[in-house]
Amino acid sequence: MHALLALTACSSGEGHPEDEAGAPQGCGGIHGLLSLPAGKMVVTDLGCSSGPNTFLVVSQVLAAVANCCGEQPAAAADVIQLQFFLNDLPSNDFNHVFQSVEPFNKLTAKEMGEAAPPYYIAALPGSFYTRLFPDHTVHLFHSSYSLMWRSKVPDELATGAVMNAGNMYIWETTPPAVVKLYQELFQKDFSLFLKLRYSELVSGGQMVLTFMGRKKSDVLSLSGEGSCMFQLLAQAFQSLVQLGRVEEEKLDTFNLPFYTPSMEEVKAVVRQSELFDINHIELFESNWDPLEDDDDDNDDLQVVDSVRSGVNVAKCIRAGLEPLVALHFGGCIVDDLFEMYAHSVAKHLEKLKANDRWFVLSWGRRCWQAAATNRASAALPCGQIRPLLGTWVLVFYAPSTEEVKAVVMSSELFDVNHAELFESNWDRSQEDDDDDNDLQLQAVDSVIGVRSGVNR
Ligand SMILES: C[S@@+](CC[C@H](N)C(=O)[O-])C[C@H]1O[C@@H](n2cnc3c(N)ncnc32)[C@H](O)[C@@H]1O
Repeated sequence: MHALLALTACSSGEGHPEDEAGAPQGCGGIHGLLSLPAGKMVVTDLGCSSGPNTFLVVSQVLAAVANCCGEQPAAAADVIQLQFFLNDLPSNDFNHVFQSVEPFNKLTAKEMGEAAPPYYIAALPGSFYTRLFPDHTVHLFHSSYSLMWRSKVPDELATGAVMNAGNMYIWETTPPAVVKLYQELFQKDFSLFLKLRYSELVSGGQMVLTFMGRKKSDVLSLSGEGSCMFQLLAQAFQSLVQLGRVEEEKLDTFNLPFYTPSMEEVKAVVRQSELFDINHIELFESNWDPLEDDDDDNDDLQVVDSVRSGVNVAKCIRAGLEPLVALHFGGCIVDDLFEMYAHSVAKHLEKLKANDRWFVLSWGRRCWQAAATNRASAALPCGQIRPLLGTWVLVFYAPSTEEVKAVVMSSELFDVNHAELFESNWDRSQEDDDDDNDLQLQAVDSVIGVRSGVNR
């Protein structure tokens, strides 16, 4: 059912200082990463979203590490600690991600028990077309179903000029000049992405990227390509134009920041960048309906459920496009648009089982570490309410300076450089001439000054 294309490559790692220091060379998947010297692994998922798939990469990496550390589960904890960063655009629903961490931890504890290596999860808002980490701090970048999104709509289209009337992406009537704009933007974006990730990866670090791709090299040879799903959306928009709900000109200036490259286009950018060796590249087909069972035993059921699939596909596309649609047309058309779209998709699926093409790439960076000071104030409690014996109790305690110092000293972990009690206004907006902020800044400044050897 899936068309697969695969390519593997190893990191070469010549001429970088860490290589001489003994960092392992070559591709070795999780095994290779585990043999890196640090004893810690930083893993980042780029475009994590905030849905059921958000923690997939975390559980997969935990399982892979536990598997590698194999027969002696307890040894895994001694060998490696994992720090996960879940990245997405700032508009992502990170509150939902935060709220999902605890249930995920409980599930992992239940399923993996002692086999789970120690791990920590943090969220990282920001575009993956910008720097996200300091130099050489990440061991594994993962991204799935995200890198087909461009950093923006091509500038020439974003001016509001009508250059691709009737389409919101590349389709049969798209002029070659517009195709070229999309291609050039892909090359620019992807080569920037490679440069950014190269700087952030440690020696021997790896990336695993899955994103929508194109089977045919000719962009305008569209039969069997997944972009038909966008054309069905364009048709749903046209219905809204006919109903007078959307202006034709508005539709003609709506363009998606999206591009599905061919295998050759991806390889060409990687080759030109001279930063990565591809370990493995593969084109495979995947169903638009995220809930459709890939198991061929279910084929009869799948045809019968084209309506359900239409709704699922519409939800999936809506999750990605709703902010863009609402920004351009206003939020009031969104429900109707995606309802019409679900109907069109269902009809389309009855005729053709819609499979789309995805690239999976895993590659090693052609080879090539952060100090943290702890603040004693971390010992201060935070305001939090919990139910206790049927009553509500504020989990809060404001300690004296002596109490804080006593705990710090008995911990034997930190020296207190400076402890000071100062008064602060309950109304934080009243603090423009802000003595507290000055004190905090001075404290941070003095620590950084000491660390960087500045005499003060
Ligand atoms: C289809 S979702 C993929 C979700 C998940 N990774 C999965 O595999 O199901 C694409 C995600 O990429 C994110 N995204 C798009 N462009 C991005 C960018 N420049 N930087 C970070 N995230 C981006 C979107 O916000 C969205 O959450």
